[in-house]
Amino acid sequence: SAPLRAHAEARGKFVGAALATSPLANETAYRSIAASEFNQVTAENAMKWDATEPSRNQFNFTGADQIMAFAEQNDQQVHGHTLVWHSQTPSWVQNLGATEMREAMQNHISRVAGRYAGNPVLTSWDVVNEVFDDNGNLRTSFWYQKLGESYIADAFRYARAADPDATLCINDYNVEGVNAKSTAMYNLVKSLRAQNVPVDCVGLQSHLAIQYGFPNIRENMQRFADLGVEVRVTEIDVRMQTPRDAAKDATQATYYSDVVKACVAVSRCSGVTVWGFTDKYSWVPDTFPGQGAALIYDENYGKKPAYTAVHDAL
Ligand code: XIL
Repeated sequence: SAPLRAHAEARGKFVGAALATSPLANETAYRSIAASEFNQVTAENAMKWDATEPSRNQFNFTGADQIMAFAEQNDQQVHGHTLVWHSQTPSWVQNLGATEMREAMQNHISRVAGRYAGNPVLTSWDVVNEVFDDNGNLRTSFWYQKLGESYIADAFRYARAADPDATLCINDYNVEGVNAKSTAMYNLVKSLRAQNVPVDCVGLQSHLAIQYGFPNIRENMQRFADLGVEVRVTEIDVRMQTPRDAAKDATQATYYSDVVKACVAVSRCSGVTVWGFTDKYSWVPDTFPGQGAALIYDENYGKKPAYTAVHDAL
């Protein structure tokens, strides 16, 4: 039957995957599924600060350009991930004083987003990532501690200046359903837009787990859409306690299906990106001990019920 991307294209949506540079360079099966099934890709790590500017003002675009070249070859859009984050950011940045930190942020955004400005393949950026803590307060990251809340608005303004055509997103986790954190996100986006800060889009990471229940994502997407912003599912995976079994796979499949159906139902939802695609390469087992099997292909590139669920929901 037709690949996921054919169904997504027919609906005017994207279906994407986060890609890791090493299997992309080394594994034919990985490359072939990544090319044939998805019309959108995100660099799992290659566009992060530690990869692109490991030392001050010394840029390295090897991995980022590898992802871009793959997307160009395969007629895929790239979502840039991510310009400003508290994680995977070198200590040289964290150790700067306020004035130099703001300058470093502007320089980084200008060089990284600027590199792909005007390239039709690069359509969007996560400008800031995970600015909230789990209670819905602004995270007291080094950015916040040195620069205060204004770093968020500044990052968006620098990104717009660097790439005027890209869709600029704020991205976070545990903001899929209507809850305190997503309401804080909603209020921040509303307030930034009221101040003409160029926030175009909200990314719902969607790192879900079958043991925690399914969030009311459609209702939450719709309230963001009603603010006039694009919404997108940026990093979905649905983990479980390993080992897999048929019942867990079936539950997982309903989660994938319900997320894709929510995006299909909300016209301002542009698409869904899976955080990886094969259980062979997933951040989940390393991050959540005892959990895994979160993706839509198994470790041998076999399609799981979750694949069929995404396919049938598109
Ligand atoms: C993860 C990657 O998947 C891992 O390979 C890396 O070691 C750590 O980061 N939220 C994000 C992503 O925005 O960038 C994270 O990706 C997963 C959580």
